[in-house]
Amino acid sequence: MTRKLFIKTYGCQMNAYDSARIADVMAPHGYSLVDDAAGADMVVLNTCHIREKAAEKVYSELGRLRRAKEEKAANGERMLIAVAGCVAQAEGEEMIVRAPLVDIVVGPQVYHRLPEMVAKLSRGEGRALDTEFPAMDKFDALPGTKTAPGPTAFLTVQEGCDKFCTFCVVPYTRGAEYSRSVAQIEAEARHVADLGVKELTLLGQNVNAYHGIGPDGEPWGLGRLIRRLAKIDEIARLRYTTSHPRDMSDELIDAHAHEPKLMPYLHLPVQSGSDRVLEAMNRGHTAEDYKRLVERIRRARPDIALSSDFIVGFPGETDEDFEATMALIRDVGYAQAFSFKYSPRPGTPAAVARKQIADNVKEDRLAGLQDLLRRQADTFAAACVGREMDVLFEHRGRYADQLVGRSPYLQPVHARAPERLLGRLARVRLVEAKSNSMAGELADMAVAL
Ligand code: SAH
Ligand code: SF4
Ligand code: F3S
Repeated sequence: MTRKLFIKTYGCQMNAYDSARIADVMAPHGYSLVDDAAGADMVVLNTCHIREKAAEKVYSELGRLRRAKEEKAANGERMLIAVAGCVAQAEGEEMIVRAPLVDIVVGPQVYHRLPEMVAKLSRGEGRALDTEFPAMDKFDALPGTKTAPGPTAFLTVQEGCDKFCTFCVVPYTRGAEYSRSVAQIEAEARHVADLGVKELTLLGQNVNAYHGIGPDGEPWGLGRLIRRLAKIDEIARLRYTTSHPRDMSDELIDAHAHEPKLMPYLHLPVQSGSDRVLEAMNRGHTAEDYKRLVERIRRARPDIALSSDFIVGFPGETDEDFEATMALIRDVGYAQAFSFKYSPRPGTPAAVARKQIADNVKEDRLAGLQDLLRRQADTFAAACVGREMDVLFEHRGRYADQLVGRSPYLQPVHARAPERLLGRLARVRLVEAKSNSMAGELADMAVAL
């Protein structure tokens, strides 16, 4: 009997990876993915706790699911609702109490146990809660994926974080830093390469802190892992995210200089340009350290494009501190960036700091910062017009004979191209910068025919 499984994913790419693994775990038990919650036998909300808004979304979604669950019950059928991810981890028992609709609460380290939890529920054993941090048997327990992921795939190589930035919930929801072994990662990479994957993005909350055991029994850094994976012929492109400025090793910077499969794009969050704020955030580096690091990376790979995350309105942030962030942005120059208003998170040190910043001040600063970042992104996009780049076509476009893919700089590029180029790399001349994408033309007419 096939059952319908609907998964809704919030938050970061690691959650996207986990959602795909949850589908893999449930598949042998007859569950196949559908793209609508209505009528589903099981709904999984894979949640994010990073900012207040992200966490609130879960409760509004549960509100919407109530009706669907009741309709199903009216037909004498059951809709199981599971909450997974970082809200599940953070709230645990509290969620079971607060949301009677929820049947299962499962943390990010134990979702491989979902089939058991579902079986218990069907035996009428009541609602289930599991938010343990077992000694990483998750990856050993996960089955290899059976469904072809498409031309690109995520691969989690590292989980958790020991940095304890004072604003951040991740060390609490994802636990201590852990790296998978090189052998296990390589096996998964080869497996998805056999399924047609051409581009792999290596994931970790702190991916460049990677230190998994290599085939020689020694811990390997991310640079070395990247070089190893680059030897897989079918894999044409490698990326990794998210990196911490303190963990950019020489070996990793060197990989940017010498490994052509490693894409010239780096997400390197700095959060603030003020040393006072960076210290209060416990980031462990100054603005100057960061700028020097960027110089070293650019020396290794001059055409690298940078992206970052910024927080405005961290407790105690003055106009001067904010100006220092603006100055750092002007200095570095970003191709792309994410920026957020500081959101106090329960259980983190900054949430109880005395000098919280008023919301209207946060709004003003965010608007100014986003305006600057937008202009930098436009400048970067405009500078790409006229250049030829490799584009990996990932899906069909909005119009007939149009395909959409990504440039090395992660820009979405659409171009008129024959269907057979789907899942393949092609040379494309970028002809126009749109607001969030680039228009291109196949550079090699022979390929177009
Ligand atoms: N591991 C990554 C970040 C993971 S969270 C790193 O170290 O950079 C993704 C981004 O969310 C962070 O970079 C930060 O900019 C933002 N963020 C995290 N906690 C936040 C909070 N409490 N309020 C606002 N933004 C936050
Ligand atoms: Fe959070 Fe800091 Fe760890 Fe990134 S490095 S996940 S911001 S604690
Ligand atoms: Fe959110 Fe958890 Fe990722 S809090 S950003 S889903 S690690």
